[in-house]
Amino acid sequence: MKKYKDIAGDGGSNIVAQVEAQQRRLRARLATVRAVVAIVSGKGGVGKSSLTANLACCLAQAGLRVGVLDADLNGPTMAKMLGVRGQRLVLASGGVEPPRTSLGVKVMSMDLLLPSDSAPLQWNAVTQDEAHTWRGSMEASALREFLTDTNWGELDLLLLDLPPGTDRLLTIAALVERLAGTVVVTIPSDVSHLVVRKAITVASQVKAPVLGLVENMAGLLSGPDAALLARDAGIPLLGRVPFDPALAAAADRGEPFVAVAPESAAARALVALAAEIQARITAPAA
Ligand SMILES: Nc1ncnc2c1ncn2[C@@H]1O[C@H](COP(=O)(O)OP(=O)(O)OP(=O)(O)O)[C@@H](O)[C@H]1O
Ligand SMILES: [Mg+2]
Repeated sequence: MKKYKDIAGDGGSNIVAQVEAQQRRLRARLATVRAVVAIVSGKGGVGKSSLTANLACCLAQAGLRVGVLDADLNGPTMAKMLGVRGQRLVLASGGVEPPRTSLGVKVMSMDLLLPSDSAPLQWNAVTQDEAHTWRGSMEASALREFLTDTNWGELDLLLLDLPPGTDRLLTIAALVERLAGTVVVTIPSDVSHLVVRKAITVASQVKAPVLGLVENMAGLLSGPDAALLARDAGIPLLGRVPFDPALAAAADRGEPFVAVAPESAAARALVALAAEIQARITAPAA
């Protein structure tokens, strides 16, 4: 069996130039986006997507031009949570026009491309064995295309909703050279802290600053204190968002929770969190 080291040259594909050209196109697309922030955790189900959706709504309400890229290709939820599911994508001269929510948030998600509710994302390769081998690089290519081909226009902030897993951030960081920062999400449980601690280590390895930690579903469990995890990791605790079933219900209806229940403790926490993140992006710590 041939190994990579046995392959002389690039077989005439000029792969290096191709990749450089793709990176140039991506750079050009993101030139009109002032800041890109990734919401990460490592742990699944802790509320990364819920926080991304609600932060986008808070910042749009505050007057910012906001976009959301659903970087979770296998379990996309952004279109549903932001109420744009089923909207048709329009291909215009400037690229694919992302649907806009009622608050004007631009959304791009694999969910808008899949043909039906039950259709999963499947990578086509000659055999499924090969699909498995190439999955990482195919995911990276798909994310690059998503970012590049979407007509984001002028944005103050593009939020990236990452899937669970600690390695995904490295893929994103390799693509988005000007990542303004990462926001790490946990819930008050030992199991979550165990994984999130590793995610913070990964986040600290990328060039972009770790803006801080968020405790979601605060009060649901009498687990470990996120303030201690943040202190141990040397990052700020940006805020705590209480557990509120109404927040989950609003996401299921595709409604912006912060707009429909603005007086709730969770909405107030989200507004404060959004302001905290915005301040840290525009005025990064010295
Ligand atoms: N503060 C909260 N209060 C109540 N329910 C919440 C809260 N945050 C998230 N949820 C609910 O918890 C579930 C998981 O949230 P979400 O999908 O945002 O997590 P995730 O970290 O993005 O998951 P995944 O790792 O699968 O991408 C959802 O049903 C969501 O509505
Ligand atoms: Mg998610």
